[in-house]
Amino acid sequence: MDSLFSDRITDVPQSFIREILKVTLDPSIISFAGGLPNRQLFPVQALQQAADTVFSQAGMDALQYANSEGYLPLREFIAQRYRQKQQLEVAPEHILITTGSQQGLDLLGKTLINSGDPVMIEAPGYLGAIQAFSMYRPQFETIAVDEAGMDIPALEQVLDRCSPKLLYTVPNFQNPSGISYSSDNRAAVAARIRESHCILIQDDPYGELRFSGHPRENFLSLIPEQTVLLGSFSKTVAPALRIGWLVAPPQLMEKLLIAKQASDLHTDYLAQRILHQYLRDNDLDLHVNRIIQAYGRQKEAMVAAIGRHFPAGVHCTNPEGGMFLWVTLPAAISAMELFHTAIREKVAFVPGTPFYVNRQDCNTLRLNFSCMDSETIERGIERLGQAIQGMMA
Ligand SMILES: Cc1ncc(COP(=O)(O)O)c(C=O)c1O
Repeated sequence: MDSLFSDRITDVPQSFIREILKVTLDPSIISFAGGLPNRQLFPVQALQQAADTVFSQAGMDALQYANSEGYLPLREFIAQRYRQKQQLEVAPEHILITTGSQQGLDLLGKTLINSGDPVMIEAPGYLGAIQAFSMYRPQFETIAVDEAGMDIPALEQVLDRCSPKLLYTVPNFQNPSGISYSSDNRAAVAARIRESHCILIQDDPYGELRFSGHPRENFLSLIPEQTVLLGSFSKTVAPALRIGWLVAPPQLMEKLLIAKQASDLHTDYLAQRILHQYLRDNDLDLHVNRIIQAYGRQKEAMVAAIGRHFPAGVHCTNPEGGMFLWVTLPAAISAMELFHTAIREKVAFVPGTPFYVNRQDCNTLRLNFSCMDSETIERGIERLGQAIQGMMA
């Protein structure tokens, strides 16, 4: 059987997170390993009502094949929201509805990456992007990120050395680290990209989930001709709808549309209609605010618990939004080894390894804070602190 598989699929590593999530199915384990939005905050009744309305008012239409670009009123809603929230002018024709933003990544890979092409990605970076792009067999060039944003000298060096086609970024509340690029850093990244032929992908599923600080510039406003912006309703409404979008310059959009047609003809039209109905009948700001309040409290609880229970020498980021924070252990401690010790203490996290394209063992790890109340966070962090202390002793 093995000889039948394409080189493409053979080269892509299995999702390590799936393996970890299996371990954490044990209910006695407190798991900070997941990456899910909090299910308690899904607008179940409002979506049910929206579905009823769609079925009763437009059933036959909503069950038919539809256009590949996506439901126009939904694209108009997205354009209107960019205008309101970010003073960004985006024409609905420049928006393509995708099956989650994950599909946006796949379509970009399909459209832009030939085998061996240099593609720049953050280190650490979003695992799903590493996986999606790996299918097209690029040469990954990693650019380190820290609490200020991207390492500019490293970016310059890679741009000069190999003229990459793509730079993939998550500048707001990054998955996995929770960091956001500063305004100066964004300007510096944009200036370097402007001098190149590179396309910058801004993947922004968490941008609306800001619980402190001020919104920062979108790359689409800084370098509109070279930016592809990805968005998603997964973290603001519900991931099961599988509705995301991308904004791309017209020439690229033409090709992305071909890739979209080849992939799935169009994103689930019924889900698009139900989501649009929900957005018409409900106040999205009010709903997103509830999520922000909850995640903000949970993040505060986690940072405070870390302050109480982690030994000196362990550093963690303090995100202004999103769902994750990033822990750096003393250099000698392997996060992979800590994972096994922590499981014995009944607490789980994701070691940093899968977020780096070279997948080397490292001293970093990701903690998710979106799914747990403050008391459970306190207990879990106390257990993790004990596991770290045990390894440092
Ligand atoms: C940075 C990033 N991009 C994309 C996605 C995929 O989201 P979607 O559900 O829209 O496909 C995620 C999901 O966790 C993510 O963290």
